Amino acid sequence: MDNVRNIVILTGAGISAESGIDTFRSDGGLWEQHRIEDVATPEGFARDPDLVLRFYDMRREAVLTKQPNPAHDALAKLDREWSARPNHNLLIVTQNVDDLHERAGAAHVHHMHGELRSALCTACMKRSPWDAPMSDRPACPQCGVNALRPDVVWFGEMPYHMDRIYGFLRRADLFVSIGTSGAVYPAAGFVRDARELGAQTLELNLERSEGSAWFGESRLGPASKLVPQWVDEVLRVS
Ligand code: APR
Repeated sequence: MDNVRNIVILTGAGISAESGIDTFRSDGGLWEQHRIEDVATPEGFARDPDLVLRFYDMRREAVLTKQPNPAHDALAKLDREWSARPNHNLLIVTQNVDDLHERAGAAHVHHMHGELRSALCTACMKRSPWDAPMSDRPACPQCGVNALRPDVVWFGEMPYHMDRIYGFLRRADLFVSIGTSGAVYPAAGFVRDARELGAQTLELNLERSEGSAWFGESRLGPASKLVPQWVDEVLRVS
């Protein structure tokens, strides 16, 4: 940890699993309950918008009842203490659309796949904070048109904040991946990018991910245990 100043942390559904939020590809996960083509593509939204709006209404309502777990809390602590040090930077890049990182107190978070508690208007293209259902086709708070969609990145769409994320990856001394299967690009390619740019790489996951071979170190177990242990280690030795 001696020469580590810039840390990039990628999180996936596994970090929110112990908060009671379904992951996507586990047994009984979201993609076993719903067809990706129907609920997570622009084509699916065009074909059956009611089905898609209900799907995200269900997920948004569920997330509002969940709480951050010790893994979210530990990352918020690391964000606070690490970022307070001179010339030290940390960025949490999450694939998750829940807001548990922020509710735990993390400040430096990029949602590359969007956010459930945000509405995107397809008329004025503006975003608005949103906690209510969308399937009754409410008006956009900014332009008044009934053209809202979930502010979530669907398959085939461009993830958000990619320039800033690659900018951080280029400067990273340490890249850590938590609770992701490594099944979806571009996030699944970050470890390789970071490694080829000379960063140390660490995976914290319940089981080996598809990109495990790229990590310098893999620790297997539940995030609520592994993440607080790792954060204590980082803050102790650096
Ligand atoms: N602690 C740590 N890891 C866990 C835990 C846990 N308690 N529970 C599950 N995991 C791990 C699983 O072993 C798996 O590797 O989290 C990973 C979850 O994988 P996915 O369900 O594929 O979720 P994710 O990697 O976030 O999916 C990526 O795919 O469906 C799209 O846009 C969606 O952002 C999502 C992207």
